[in-house]
Amino acid sequence: VVDIRKLYGQTGKFTFDPGFMSTAACESKITYIDGDKGELLYRGYPIEQLAQHCDYLEICYLLLNGELPNEEQRRDFDYRVTHHTMVHEQMTRFFQGFRRDAHPMAVLVGCVGALSAFYHDSLDINDPEHRFVSAIRLIAKMPTLTAMAYKYNTGQPFMYPRNDLSYSANFLRMMFGTPCDEYKPNDVLVRALDRILILHADHEQNASTSTVRLAGSSGANPFACIAAGIATLWGPAHGGANEACLIMLDDIQKQGGVEKIGEFIDKVKDKNSGVKLMGFGHRVYKNYDPRAKLMRETCHEVLGELGLHDDPLFALAMKLEQIALEDDYFVQRKLYPNVDFYSGIVQKAMGIPTSMFTCIFALARTVGWIAQWGEMIADPDQKIGRPRQLFTGKTPREVQTIDKR
Ligand code: ACO
Repeated sequence: VVDIRKLYGQTGKFTFDPGFMSTAACESKITYIDGDKGELLYRGYPIEQLAQHCDYLEICYLLLNGELPNEEQRRDFDYRVTHHTMVHEQMTRFFQGFRRDAHPMAVLVGCVGALSAFYHDSLDINDPEHRFVSAIRLIAKMPTLTAMAYKYNTGQPFMYPRNDLSYSANFLRMMFGTPCDEYKPNDVLVRALDRILILHADHEQNASTSTVRLAGSSGANPFACIAAGIATLWGPAHGGANEACLIMLDDIQKQGGVEKIGEFIDKVKDKNSGVKLMGFGHRVYKNYDPRAKLMRETCHEVLGELGLHDDPLFALAMKLEQIALEDDYFVQRKLYPNVDFYSGIVQKAMGIPTSMFTCIFALARTVGWIAQWGEMIADPDQKIGRPRQLFTGKTPREVQTIDKR
C-alpha cells in the first residue's frame, strides 16, 4: 500500500501491485482455479469430468448460463448457434484488404472488430437478449472467420459452414476441405479439436480476459471487446506459447534433434542465456496444469491415430518432456509441461500450421471472454475500470521558452 501524500501532498492510499499479482479486480461465478492443487472448475464442475462427458457447445452453454443444458436446451442452443455460422458476404471483401502474408491473428483482430459494423442490431448492451444474440453470433462466427483467415493466407477459396456437422467437424472441414472434394473429418481429430476448445474455453482473469472486461467496462460493444481480447492473447507469454513451443522444437531439431536436448536444457538452466523451456511452467499452476494431463492423453491418441509416434519432431518432444520431468532444475521449481506444450504438438500433427495455433486458442476462448463480459455488464454495481499509477516522473516545474532550453 502506497501513501500518495508522500508524493504530492494528495490524500488517500492505494495498492501498488504491478502485474496484478495479488489484486482481485472483480467478483466472478464462472471459473475457479486452485493453482496449488492443480484444480480447474467451470461453474463448479471439474475440467476432467467436463472433458469426459461434454462437447464444446455444452461447455459454451454452461459458461454462458451457469448450468449444463438438458436435451431440449441443447437442441435449442445448437439451432441458434448453427443458424449464425455464416458471416455477411461483404466480410469476404474485408479479408481481401489484407496482405496475403499477414499473420492470421492480425487478420482476426481486424475482422472480429469489424463485426460491430455488420451487426448493429445486437449492440444494445443494456438489453439481455441483445447480449445473448451477440454471444451466439461470436461463438457461431469465430470458426468461420478463423478458417477464412487460414484460407486467405493460403490462397484457397473460402469454405461456407455446414450446419449438419458438429462445431469442431465443421471447423476442420472449413480449414481443410475445398469446393472440389468431399472432406470427411476424422473422428479422432474432431474429438481432439473439441478437447482443445474445451480446455481453452475459460481461465478466469488472465491477461486477455481482463482486457475484455476493462474494454467492456467503458460500455464498448462486445465485438470490439473481443477484438481487444484477441489482440492481447497474441502475445508469446499468453496465447502465443504453443506457437513458441513448436518453434523451439523445430530449432532443436535443426541443431541435431534428440542428441542436442542435453545441451539445450543446459542453456535453459543458465540464467544469463535468456532461454526458457517453452510450454513449461505456469503463473497460477504451481502443481500440475490439469489441462496438460488431458491434453497429453489426446496427444498420444492423435499421434497413434496418425502413426506419428516415430516422427522425429514428435519423438523429440516426448524425449524433451521425459528429460525435463526428471531434471532437478525443473523438479525443484515445480515446472511441469503446461497445456500448450501438448496442444501445439496435437495441432501440428493435425496439419494445422503454427501461425494458426493462437487463432484456434482465440476461437476456443471467445466463449470465456463473452461470458465474463456478460457477467460484468449484468452487474448493477459495475464501474469503469480505471487503475491508479505510482507516478515517478518530474515534480512540477516551469516551462522555459525555446531560446532558454
Ligand atoms: N523454463 C525455464 N525456467 C523457468 C521456466 C521455463 N519455462 N518457467 C519458469 N522458470 C523458472 C524461473 O526462471 C524461476 O527460476 P528462479 O527461481 O531460479 O529465478 C522459477 O522457474 C520460477 O518461475 P516464475 O518466475 O515464478 O514463473 P512465473 O510465474 O513468473 O512465469 C510463465 C510463468 C510466464 C508461464 C513461465 O513459466 C514461462 O515463461 N513459461 C514458458 C512460456 C509458456 O509456456 N507460457 C504458457 C503459459 S500457459 C498458457 O498461457 C495457457
